[in-house]
Formats: sequence, C-alpha cells, structure tokens
Amino acid sequence: MSKDVKSVEYGLEKIFEGAEDFLPLLGTDYVELYVGNAKQAAHYYKTAFGFQSLAYKGLETGSRDEVSYVLVQDKIRLVLTSPLNSKSPINDHIVKHGDGVKVIALWVEDARSAFEETTKRGAKPFLEPTVEKDDHGEIVRSGIYTYGETIHMFVERKNYNGVFMPGYRKWESDYNPPTLGLKYIDHMVGNVGWNQMNKWVAWYEKVMGFVNFLSFDDKQIHTEYSALMSKVMSNGNGRIKFPINEPAEGKKKSQIEEYLDFYEGEGVQHIAVTTDDIVSTVKQLRERGVEFLPPPPQAYYDDIPRRLGDHMKIMKEDIQELQKYSILVDADEEGYLLQIFTKPVQDRPTLFFEIIQRIGARGFGAGNFKALFESIEREQALRGTL
Ligand code: FE2
Repeated sequence: MSKDVKSVEYGLEKIFEGAEDFLPLLGTDYVELYVGNAKQAAHYYKTAFGFQSLAYKGLETGSRDEVSYVLVQDKIRLVLTSPLNSKSPINDHIVKHGDGVKVIALWVEDARSAFEETTKRGAKPFLEPTVEKDDHGEIVRSGIYTYGETIHMFVERKNYNGVFMPGYRKWESDYNPPTLGLKYIDHMVGNVGWNQMNKWVAWYEKVMGFVNFLSFDDKQIHTEYSALMSKVMSNGNGRIKFPINEPAEGKKKSQIEEYLDFYEGEGVQHIAVTTDDIVSTVKQLRERGVEFLPPPPQAYYDDIPRRLGDHMKIMKEDIQELQKYSILVDADEEGYLLQIFTKPVQDRPTLFFEIIQRIGARGFGAGNFKALFESIEREQALRGTL
C-alpha cells in the first residue's frame, strides 16, 4: 500500500502510524563535507556562521592521509575533511563534485543492528560495523550508501565520553567568534536525477522505514520557466527529515538540473538549520559576510497579512524588518514559519544553507516556492545556466 500523501495535509500521527521502528534514530550526529581546503573552510564557518572549534585530526594526531576539523553550534556538528596527499580517495570525490556533503551521520543506539537491518533490506554497504577506542571509551560506526556518492553513517556513542570520536583531539583555538543562535538541523534535501525521486522514496521506505509525509508535484512547484518535484521523507519520531527533489520539464533549465550538472551527479542540495530568532541570526550572518538570495518583490510582503490570516495575531516579527533582511514567511494550519536561503557556499552552484524558524508550522515553505525559485532563476540567469 502506498504511504504517499498527495497533499499538504499531514500530521505526526501519520508519521508514527506508517513508519517502522527497525531503525530507531536519535538525531543527526554530524554532517561531513569533503572540501578542497579544510583549514580555510573551518575559518569561514567559524567567522561567517558562528560555529565553534570542537575537535581536530591531522598530521599532529597521526592522521597521515586526511585532515578533519570538527565545528559545533548547539546540536549541529560539521566535519570538514581534506586529503593530505594525492593518494587519498577523497581527491576523486573533490575533483568530481567540488566541495560538498559526503556523510550524513545518524545517531543510533545500536550501529550493528542499524547496519544489519538496512543492508538486509537492500542497502549497499559502505562500512561494516567498526569499533574505535581511546581513553574515553568506544564508538561503533557503520555506513551505507544513499543517493549519488553520499553516505549514511550510523554512530553509536553510548559508551563514549570524549570530545568527538577516537582519533580526534580537542581543538583549542584563540579565535572564537560568538555563535549566531543556530540550534539543530531541521532537514537536509537531496537532489536526484530525472525520474529518480520515486526510486529513492521507495528506498527510504523499504531500507530505512521512513514515510513520505508530504509531496509537491510540478504543478505546485513551478515558475514561468522551470519546475521540480519533491517528496519529504521522515523517520518515525520526525527528527530526521529528508526531502528528495527531482527536475521536471520546463521551458528552461531548472535549478535541480543546474545542480546535477555542476555536482556531476546526485547529492545534498541544502542543509536547513533552525534558530529561535531569525531576524537577529540573519542580521548577524549578513554582517559577517554570508550572502543570501535576492529579496522577492514588494508585492510579496504586502500580501503577508492575507497569507497568514489568523496567525497574524501571534506573529511577533515586524513585516518591515523581515523585508529588510529578505526573510520569507509561510503558514499552514498549525502556525507559520520564517525562512531564508543562502547563495551557494562554494563556487560551483551546488550546496547552500537554509535558516528556518518554526512557530508551529511543520511544512517546508510551499507558499514561498514560487518567490524562492524566481530568486534562484535570477541568479541562474547571471551564471548563464538558466
Ligand atoms: Fe528546505
């Protein structure tokens, strides 16, 4: 039976009903990016996004082939990894894809069981369950492939009390710019190839026990020029949400096609991180040099009271202030949300970040899709890739 929900009607009950608990997930453990210059990328994420130094491995810790910097902000952990010589296979990933997300690591109670349950349902293995130990205890990790060359790593850390993982040491730095109120990862979106979305929806259902709790077709997500389709997958407790996008036919090239061309394959399109005060967070991100998509037209902001309806009564933010920082607003039956999208964070037009604040709403800003994609298309036109 299909668990597909073809409209924006959804609820946590549906997620709990449909999902299976053979793969209990406690949350996102870390996100690892393969980058050309981890040292400089770490400086960027500290300076611009307010991440803090957490852990390090490299030549000084006996890691001869790769270097990793681990950054933290509340519950978000980013690992930035670069190769230290031409023999490392990380080079191949960077040559092909540029900087991008390699690993979406998921925090589990039992990494052995996670590996067994997913591989027996058809997942392609990446790492057999492996125990890593140091003076602070042990961590068990296992991994499987998902779309493209992206990996889901399962991390069991109940017997570990060190700073991050064995092999790393605490990273003490004299340079510690303040945090910007980013709290946790709300969702991470994957871009897959033409006609591949339903294949990956079925994969997440079968292999990981996820449910498809929200869908958008090309009639809902389109502009004058381009279109895409998207289905949102969630695990049973709703902590892990992975929307999957595929391109759809339009008059011109969609942003998903542009991503697939420049990433040279399927991969993570954006990481959405939450804040409790988006106006303050975005103001500071802008001051520190983070670039955002250009604002929608005046008419978009004029229309907000109508779109929010009753939610206007609980809205604390000033619409003029939202407009000043180009923050977008959307509403559903349960509340509203505020969101904004960065420009790509590397030279290839691939990975970007979303900053999101939810005031009750559990959607993904469907009411903003048109304004958002028109902004992206203006950027695409400048790049000559529309
Ligand atoms: Fe998003």
